[in-house]
Amino acid sequence: MNVDFYERIWMWIATGIVLLFMAFVGVSTFAQGIRPPSHVETIDPAKVFQDPRFSRIATPTELPDGTIEVQVAAIMFAFVPNEIRVPPGRRIRFRMTSADVTHGFMIAGSNANTMIVPGYISQFTTVFEQPGDYLLVCHEFCGNGHHAMHGRVIVDPGAVVAKAAAAPHQGAH
Ligand code: CUA
Repeated sequence: MNVDFYERIWMWIATGIVLLFMAFVGVSTFAQGIRPPSHVETIDPAKVFQDPRFSRIATPTELPDGTIEVQVAAIMFAFVPNEIRVPPGRRIRFRMTSADVTHGFMIAGSNANTMIVPGYISQFTTVFEQPGDYLLVCHEFCGNGHHAMHGRVIVDPGAVVAKAAAAPHQGAH
């Protein structure tokens, strides 16, 4: 047993730890679809309900690429809408903003979990493989009614989805 021997062992242990951490990151990113929200888009919190980007809050809308966009406004102490119906097996893009304070947005039993910060639009895309009734909760303390701020996401093969008209604000082709 010389110094070299121990050094070699520690090198292998260190290498193993690094590989283990990379495996954790790889599994959570590619197998579980967990990734940080990176979308940065600003909005005036006082004008959320007049903003054209939140004009389709009532109905999930299919975009030209097949993704279904769901717009959600968070206000003390509710999600608007508080019942969201989407089909399973489709890319669902949530676009959310707050009209007042910081809220949370978590759909229990899915990888949907983000914060909703006033002044910004939070966005992420997910797929619900299993039909069912998912609980939507605000998991960021937002005031006295925080505990009552929840809704439902119903994943239903019969969900009604509107078709997006050509979007003039995105410019000509
Ligand atoms: Cu909104 Cu807690």
